[in-house]
Amino acid sequence: MRALLIGGGGREHAIGLSIVKSGTELVVIALNNNPGLMRIAKEMIVGNENDREWVLENAKRLNPDYVFIGPESPLAHGVSDILIENKFNVFAPTSTAARLETSKAFCRQFMTENKVRGNIESAAFSDSKSAQSFVNEIDYDFVIKPDGLTGGKGVVVQGVHFQTKEEGIKIIRDYLSSGHDTLLVEKKVVGEEFSLQAFVNGNKILFLPAVQDYKRAYEGDKGPNTGGMGSICFSEKGLPFIDPETLEGAKGILKELITEFAKKVANYVGPIYGGFIASPEGPKLLEINARLGDPEAINVLSLMETSIMDVAIAMLNNQDISLEFRDRISILRYLVPCGYGTRPIPSIIDLDEEKILLRGLKIYYASVNLSGKQLSQTTSRSVALVSEGTDLSHINARFEGLPSVIRGEYSMRNDIGTETMIEKKKKAMKTIMTGRA
Ligand code: GLY
Repeated sequence: MRALLIGGGGREHAIGLSIVKSGTELVVIALNNNPGLMRIAKEMIVGNENDREWVLENAKRLNPDYVFIGPESPLAHGVSDILIENKFNVFAPTSTAARLETSKAFCRQFMTENKVRGNIESAAFSDSKSAQSFVNEIDYDFVIKPDGLTGGKGVVVQGVHFQTKEEGIKIIRDYLSSGHDTLLVEKKVVGEEFSLQAFVNGNKILFLPAVQDYKRAYEGDKGPNTGGMGSICFSEKGLPFIDPETLEGAKGILKELITEFAKKVANYVGPIYGGFIASPEGPKLLEINARLGDPEAINVLSLMETSIMDVAIAMLNNQDISLEFRDRISILRYLVPCGYGTRPIPSIIDLDEEKILLRGLKIYYASVNLSGKQLSQTTSRSVALVSEGTDLSHINARFEGLPSVIRGEYSMRNDIGTETMIEKKKKAMKTIMTGRA
């Protein structure tokens, strides 16, 4: 068997490792020369992964049995569509199904029209005057979200990124005059966020363990939103600050959404990601991603004993399969270029792999390029380090003293997955959920 993987980030390194676990030969098309993927792939082609004709041409030559697409951008550019039209077995949604991610307004409207639970009060605007009148009328704090893809960095929240209605209106004006055609103004929901991912084919859905992404750039959950600075997963035990009822509620919402989608629009095929928030009114859906999350996929796939290749084969051929996970806690921290989240300054980094592995950490390469022996950062996240185990203090101790084994300029949040952060989140959720309906 041969699998083609499109994408070259940390998530794709994790997908690649899961594919080769089944004995499958891996070939990769990516924007960057990811050293982790280069090592495990039979062939790695670096080029524009969003260019559908070029990807098709390469796919015809590589002749894979199955195709996986990691990032959202190739989906939005119709790469899955052209491969499906050409009879490749693609374990990813079409661009129509991916609209659940590529247009947040479409997703909200679909939920409203089909009465899918977990929706949030929201209105879409393409001109700042109407948005301004709306904002002046509402009596709740609000969130501003560009309609299209923003790499997780476009959402701004009242009380966090801006304070007053006037400041919010200025951001709306700036967004609409700087390339965003449409944006959403949504009611702010207070609570802890969590990511629930699943593999889907039509009505069939296989859930993965919940993960929490640390989106903010700086320690203490401060600073601008990023694609995700790291993430935590407690395997099938769920997250310690999200109660089982909330998690089951979120699963119900995701199932309802894809079932209604299959009836009204099209069968959704491939990985899906629900970004949820636990609130006293039950779980609310913040966003859908038509793919696995990055970094969330890395935690989950490194704990998953089942190969994603076997999942794709079973799901695309309507066979039964169940997923098996190791019962371990997985803490992930991303090395990013200095200034990531605002003005990233990429530089050269040098990892002493042997010493990092000796500490018991796993290495997942992301948006870096290997040229000769030189590892260059891009403006995005560079390398994910994952520590697994059953005891949080042992797991976190592996991250101590990293500068002695990683040279160069980089940033990393040192509070991801610490006991202090987890206790803080438990306390905050207890207070929030006291008012549960
Ligand atoms: N970590 C959030 C995302 O993948 O969009």
